[in-house]
Amino acid sequence: MLRSLEWRAGCLTLLNQTALPGSTEFIDCRDWRRVAEAIRRLEVRGAPAIGAAAAFGLVLGARELAARPGDFWPGLLSVAEELRGTRPTAVNLFWAIDRMLSVASRYGSGADPAAVTAALEEEAVAIAHEDEAVNRSISVNGAALFPPQSAVLTHCNAGALATVAFGTALGVIGEAWRQGRISRVFADETRPLLQGARLTAWELKNEGIPVTLITDNMAGWVMQRGLVQAAIVGADRITANGDVANKIGTYSVAVLAKEHGIPFYVAAPVSTFDFSLASGADIPIEERSPAEVTSLGGVRTAPEGIDVFNPAFDVTPNRLVTAIITEHGVLRAPYTEAIAALRDKKGC
Ligand code: MRU
Repeated sequence: MLRSLEWRAGCLTLLNQTALPGSTEFIDCRDWRRVAEAIRRLEVRGAPAIGAAAAFGLVLGARELAARPGDFWPGLLSVAEELRGTRPTAVNLFWAIDRMLSVASRYGSGADPAAVTAALEEEAVAIAHEDEAVNRSISVNGAALFPPQSAVLTHCNAGALATVAFGTALGVIGEAWRQGRISRVFADETRPLLQGARLTAWELKNEGIPVTLITDNMAGWVMQRGLVQAAIVGADRITANGDVANKIGTYSVAVLAKEHGIPFYVAAPVSTFDFSLASGADIPIEERSPAEVTSLGGVRTAPEGIDVFNPAFDVTPNRLVTAIITEHGVLRAPYTEAIAALRDKKGC
């Protein structure tokens, strides 16, 4: 299995997701600035993978700053701020940076920067390592929801590429497929950047899971024809009331699922919950370059000078979500209560 990221001897190696599926390229990051750039450019993407990459970015920053002890603490905070500024919606980025800074803050200002750096490296490795166990639990918890031989629809990519291990929604799909519960996956291509066509279709095909690629506007017809019995997606941020931010187009899938009476599942780790936000109305939604919409594969597909709206995410209201699959179990409405109980259990 190709990993979205790997840390070895002071180097963060990223699988360049913008080059897939055409070519398998790796980016060696020895400088935190390159990690920040990779997150911005979506060379590493998907909420949990962004969080882990940022954690290692902070380690690279600390290693650089350790050579200049006077600058260590202000420098570390400024690297953290730069990393926070790379993408606004996936809360795992902020969760990982906060977790790293809380480890650093256990050391006093007179502490040896080398010791702080070593502790940060240990924490980043732990974040990456934990993702594997989290993915496994989500997969097992979610697989049980599917009756035998279900066909499912997914949107964007919530697979190995979006995490450090097997994925969230695609982890569930993989486990359910091995158990004979899922027979086929319909993958939305996911315009504008085609994470479904380029990444999900590639991952599922590599795993030998039957996958049918459709364009986003085909999802309704696929449901009306009875070709899928459920939809399952990942998430970038889930608020205290169970509203779910995920890749643009997810909301449309949820509305369609409701209309066709099929369950709409969200698979996400606790690190994707933002307990501080009351509802999805408070989630910052990233807007990206108009060029992503006016061209496809480098070919211009719209008139020069056209006005473009390019939100990278949308918010699905909790009423459309059948269940949220986490590593600690499956949450169902009323979500405010279920999520508060999850928070209390985790002590977040
Ligand atoms: O813009 P991207 O490709 O980072 O968006 C990713 C998604 O929306 C994923 O569905 C989400 O992060 C869940 S990943 C397990």
